[in-house]
Amino acid sequence: MVRQVTCTAPVNIAVIKYWGKRDTSLILPTNSSLSVTLSQDDLHSRTTVGIAPEWSNESDRMWLNGTESAIATNARLVNCLKMSRAQRKALEDADSGLPRWSQWGIRIVSENNFPTAAGLASSASGYACLVYTLAQVFELPLTGADLSRNARLGSGSACRSIFGGFVGWDMGQSPTGDDSQAYQVAPETHWPDLEALILVVSDLKKGVSSTAGMQTTVETSSLAQHRFQAIVPKRMRQMEQAILAKDFDTFAEITMRDSNQFHATCLDTFPPIFYLNDTSRLIIQVVTAINCLSGRTQAAYTFDAGPNAVIYAPKAHMPYLIQLFAYFFPGSAGSGYFSDSYQCLPEGTVLGK
Ligand code: ADP
Ligand code: DP6
Ligand code: CO
Repeated sequence: MVRQVTCTAPVNIAVIKYWGKRDTSLILPTNSSLSVTLSQDDLHSRTTVGIAPEWSNESDRMWLNGTESAIATNARLVNCLKMSRAQRKALEDADSGLPRWSQWGIRIVSENNFPTAAGLASSASGYACLVYTLAQVFELPLTGADLSRNARLGSGSACRSIFGGFVGWDMGQSPTGDDSQAYQVAPETHWPDLEALILVVSDLKKGVSSTAGMQTTVETSSLAQHRFQAIVPKRMRQMEQAILAKDFDTFAEITMRDSNQFHATCLDTFPPIFYLNDTSRLIIQVVTAINCLSGRTQAAYTFDAGPNAVIYAPKAHMPYLIQLFAYFFPGSAGSGYFSDSYQCLPEGTVLGK
């Protein structure tokens, strides 16, 4: 007997970047961050979780993008499964009439419809989808904040993909991580005029994973320390205000400055880390040129830990921007992803019965 559930979850692209942990096993960050969750119709992970009593005597198994990947050696996966099983067991202990699903074996099949580990936030959609699907299969009565903390154990950025629209991740103060979770700044319906264009510069796996890169940054970059203390807290407040006021000029300036500063801390890391390539830098120059030449902010660029660009712009600018990028990067038209809506799981949503 197999009980199985399939869900999808979208990626989120940060406008105030998370880059640094104060606790590497609980995944507690050195700074708060803020992102936009894209539509499920665009970049997403699709995950099926099956549980069965006949798998109880074997190890849990997982297949990612068609290839089996070991669970036992992946501490984050192990933590997510442990947490979800413990939450199920607590329900079973409180009600002896419930089926003992916490004792069944687990099999997971997950696929991303975009490049994995290439700086397009696959760990965010992947782990958000995993913990959400586990909560469904185990019928866990979790709030959005609970799910966000579960997702954080898989990947920091995943805690933000639990919510739609504009999402903050409060770094929290507690050493246990009880207060380090995401919250919705504004729902996906708040700013329908804002769109995201994704320019896939390279679909290759990055040379330095986000996890490894940010740890070296925390250990070696003095610029990063300055960023955590003096820059991000103020930017978080300014960015939240800009989003609530739908002030694109301020949103765009902070987004570009924060992307630039994140990549500056990568350069300040020793040995240095390079995620941007020549094409990324040309995209920055093109956006800067059109903003300067036209005398108004047409678009904002941002880059995660990889060379791929995300362009945020008002809807009316998109046809022109797409033409412009097609002109500068001939042969690339049609290979990007275009997002015009945002997914949403409202705060307070309770899963299960
Ligand atoms: P990215 O920039 O794509 O987020 P990371 O280096 O942060 O890259 O994370 C990539 C890792 O995230 C993968 O190697 C894999 O371990 C994990 N991951 C990606 N997609 C999924 C998924 N759908 N389900 C579970 N884990 C995933
Ligand atoms: C540059 O969340 O992928 O995309 O917590 O180690 O899994 P781990 O790292 P991850 O880092 C994301 C870094 C970023 C910025 C961001 O999404 O805020
Ligand atoms: Co990631």
